[in-house]
Amino acid sequence: MDYLTFFKLDDDPFRLTPDPGYFFPSQEHNEILNSLNYAIEQKEGFSLVVGQPGTGKTTILRILINHWKDKAEIALVMTPRLMPEEFLQAILEDLNIRLGDKSKNEMLKAFRDILVTHSAVGRRIIIIVDEAQNVPDETIEELRLLSNLETEKEKLLQIILMGQPELQKKLSAAHMKQLDQRITIRAILKPLTKSETSDYVNFRLIKAGKGTIVFDDESRKRIYDMSKGIPRVINLIASRALMAAFVSNSPSVTRDHVKYAIEHLTGENGTSWNRFIPFVKYGLAALIAVVIIVVGSYKFSGTTSPKNAPAVDLPAQNEQARGALLPARASQQSSKKAGGSNRSGVMPPEGELPKPGDAGKYVTVSAQSANMRSAPSVASEKVAWVTKGTTFPVIDKKADSTGRIWYRVQYPSEKECWVSEKVVAERAR
Ligand SMILES: Nc1ncnc2c1ncn2[C@@H]1O[C@H](COP(=O)(O)OP(=O)(O)O)[C@@H](O)[C@H]1O
Ligand SMILES: [Mg+2]
Repeated sequence: MDYLTFFKLDDDPFRLTPDPGYFFPSQEHNEILNSLNYAIEQKEGFSLVVGQPGTGKTTILRILINHWKDKAEIALVMTPRLMPEEFLQAILEDLNIRLGDKSKNEMLKAFRDILVTHSAVGRRIIIIVDEAQNVPDETIEELRLLSNLETEKEKLLQIILMGQPELQKKLSAAHMKQLDQRITIRAILKPLTKSETSDYVNFRLIKAGKGTIVFDDESRKRIYDMSKGIPRVINLIASRALMAAFVSNSPSVTRDHVKYAIEHLTGENGTSWNRFIPFVKYGLAALIAVVIIVVGSYKFSGTTSPKNAPAVDLPAQNEQARGALLPARASQQSSKKAGGSNRSGVMPPEGELPKPGDAGKYVTVSAQSANMRSAPSVASEKVAWVTKGTTFPVIDKKADSTGRIWYRVQYPSEKECWVSEKVVAERAR
């Protein structure tokens, strides 16, 4: 018997996809949706929403798109690391505007004509950029120029930028002022409150068919303590706790199941909970990274079908992230010299590296995910967790005692943020 049958559920309640069918209308999520709907109704130019990873930004976008898809033309850019022309091309393709091999000026002219035609019949055109912190500066400038397309009466285009908190920081830089001043709706998506976290767990169970399973009060309290209300982390913990209850043949999820789940998720069997407190404080997103790594070795009962397998698997290519998370392996480290090769080829000599404050160099996360640490060492505290493709300006660079190179990068945190060379690729601006 699999766990769905055991608990009489129709579906996996804590799947990690931003599924609109499971949308929980928390106050925060609702307010942001209302603001974005208002921005589109009122034909505001730019809207900005930032939030920590896992708080529900992409989920909100899915709901927004569902709401507007029959009333507007929508271009959704999910992989925003595109230079201006590619970006424009991607938008035009999404809007079904086929121009063939046209120059940028011709593309822009055609785009404007289409905007005017749509506007004449009251149809809106919305450009949505998810993970917008990854948009290169040049492309942001292009977006600003696009937003200039307007008639005497109104904006022809509504642009929504969604991203991680560094997006706000990026836009507040002096050279971004022009765009920053045009943002009329700004919102920060905060995690769920304690009582919302409890409601969220119940809500998802009901959506999945409710069945017979109950998460008792203590278990929900503990889920909140560990997730700090970040939905993606709630899903991870709740999903494992459900499995723990299933394998122990228990009709309800208790505090012990949650504790057991977290211990297995973090691979920290038997450790004191206090160890996690600073970790939680500086972003439980880091927990997700650990989960990705350890979950591959965590096997539930052989009775679970593939559909019910743990929601997160350890991707084979995640070895690099693993390198940053696990203690350095002496054999590997000893053969690696400071200044040795990295993914992008030969590391430049120390003298060529950016000096503190020099924004000329960047690193981009090349592994599936990466931990940011408070010091250049795998033993130091995890400050944050970031996903593949995130780019940071480099402030400093150091080798640790094993020869591993660490980059200190700009990241909005009260702590220093260091990232291992194993999980990033260096690039010039
Ligand atoms: N309001 C919500 N209702 C239901 N599920 C949510 C909500 N917000 C987030 N989630 C869940 O949390 C996870 C992360 O959400 P996501 O939208 O991908 O976050 P982000 O884009 O901010 O990283 C997904 O599994 C999603 O289903
Ligand atoms: Mg997202």
